[in-house]
Amino acid sequence: SNKIPVRIVEVGPRDGLQNEKTIIPPQVKVGLINRLGRAGLTVIEAGSFVSPKWVPQMAGTAEIVTSMEKLPGVTYQVLVPNEKGLENVVNLLAAHPGKPPIDEIAVFTAATDAFSRANTNVTVAESLKRMARVVQGALDKGIRVRGYVSVVITCPYSGKVDYNKVRDVTKELLDMGCYEVSLGDTTGMGNPTSVNEMLNVILGANPVEKLAGHFHDTFGMGVANSITALHAGIRTLDSSIGGLGGCPYSPGATGNVATEDILYALQDSLYTAPGDLEALVDIGFWISEQLGRDNSSRVGKAIRAR
Ligand code: HMG
Ligand code: MG
Repeated sequence: SNKIPVRIVEVGPRDGLQNEKTIIPPQVKVGLINRLGRAGLTVIEAGSFVSPKWVPQMAGTAEIVTSMEKLPGVTYQVLVPNEKGLENVVNLLAAHPGKPPIDEIAVFTAATDAFSRANTNVTVAESLKRMARVVQGALDKGIRVRGYVSVVITCPYSGKVDYNKVRDVTKELLDMGCYEVSLGDTTGMGNPTSVNEMLNVILGANPVEKLAGHFHDTFGMGVANSITALHAGIRTLDSSIGGLGGCPYSPGATGNVATEDILYALQDSLYTAPGDLEALVDIGFWISEQLGRDNSSRVGKAIRAR
């Protein structure tokens, strides 16, 4: 077709689950990842190699990624905060020669010192130095690296964010070798106007094909903001099955925009995205039930109610 392909990065197993207070059984996490892959999603963030003292829920990621089905055509990634996390990934890969449990890593930093300290215990400048070592170390091992910038619109600790800072941090991550940088509206407070203003500044120094949008849905703006990003030329969107999630260091922020809602928003449009919507709706209900939560996907609920 003549449709414009949109890449969807499913972050539910990581961003979606990391904030859950009770430890989720590994078979549920594995079941989630397997279902998402079978439903046709092509990029799945499976977990993170962060400190278990900071995010206890992600402690079992090595077990998860070695137990999950590794489907052809699906890229599996994990979040890595420092050299220790990279070392754990490298050791895991070395233990599975010829059968890598994961394909790439993602590093993360922020646009404000306050958020960076809350999330990773260092300033943005220190974080970028740390990330440069992680990115170089990964590239040396032939591992591709994605980057995230948090709080691109509003910071829970320091308020409105300077978009010039977002632009410069994004550029630094790309310059150090990230193949793409995902712009995180961590608090979900952006709207199409602020997202547009932010992107106009970012695009002054960064190529649009290397950017992705990562919109939390706290204010119900996730779909609108994602479409705004597409209109600005971005072709990669992060989303979470059932709208799961939230960042433990962004108080009150809810999950990412739901994958189901993005796919529904793109139906009959100029764009095409992978994933079987009906199957994903079922998965959204399945995981919500496993967690004892309401399904946060408006589209999932509406389709189910028909
Ligand atoms: P720290 O306390 O400054 O570092 O944490 P440390 O080196 O002193 O380590 C503390 C302990 O953790 C030590 O254990 C380390 O060994 C251990 P102890 O010696 O006390 O027994 N440790 C590790 N264990 C396993 N894997 C590791 C690791 N590193 C240290 N990689 C650190 C600094 C960066 C480690 C910590 O702050 C951290 O892990 N932060 C991650 C927080 C996080 O995961 N946040 C959520 C993900 S980001 C997000 O959600 C935003 C995003 O979605 C975009 C958006 O929406 O904005 C991506
Ligand atoms: Mg996030």
